[in-house]
Amino acid sequence: MNPNSWISKTRSELGLILQDMQIEHLEKNWIYLATAMIGFMVVILSIGAVFLHLNPPSHWETIDSASLHLGGEFAEDKLGVQPSKPSDVIIQVKLVAARYGFFPREIVVPADKKIQFRMASLDVLHGAHIPMTNMSTMIVPGHISEVTTVFPKPGEYPLLCNEYCGMGHDHMWSKVTVLSQNDWDARKNEGKQP
Ligand code: CUA
Repeated sequence: MNPNSWISKTRSELGLILQDMQIEHLEKNWIYLATAMIGFMVVILSIGAVFLHLNPPSHWETIDSASLHLGGEFAEDKLGVQPSKPSDVIIQVKLVAARYGFFPREIVVPADKKIQFRMASLDVLHGAHIPMTNMSTMIVPGHISEVTTVFPKPGEYPLLCNEYCGMGHDHMWSKVTVLSQNDWDARKNEGKQP
């Protein structure tokens, strides 16, 4: 085969391919449409964020992770289910996440009640996830994570870490025991619960 004819053949084929790659009229329309859709979504998100305050569920309260166990609301003796807040609607639970567990290890709460979790990390980034509830949040060192949830029915729920935090990540979980209102009241009357 004559090398020159081979080169010219390749050249003409390449030319055809390049010609094919030219943006077609219809393709241009789709690019405009896709760009307009992205723009529309950005505008909607911006309006929601600025005027309607629809923001990700971040709770901007900071804390010094290195010293939170030494005093303040996350001191060792202040963890777990807290005495009811004045409104009495919300039960507050305070947790510390640290490699590799949630403290306290076991929590007992009533079903069908609004439970507010306040959580802080002692070391690295952790996550808190309770299946069957809306509880799924990051626990960022230096910040307090606050989530309010309701447990639909009594039973045992796992509280899992869902952010990779090191070698023991797979073993980082706690147990949440959810009692019926009657059982909860009985427990309260026995003085086992604040
Ligand atoms: Cu803590 Cu993964």
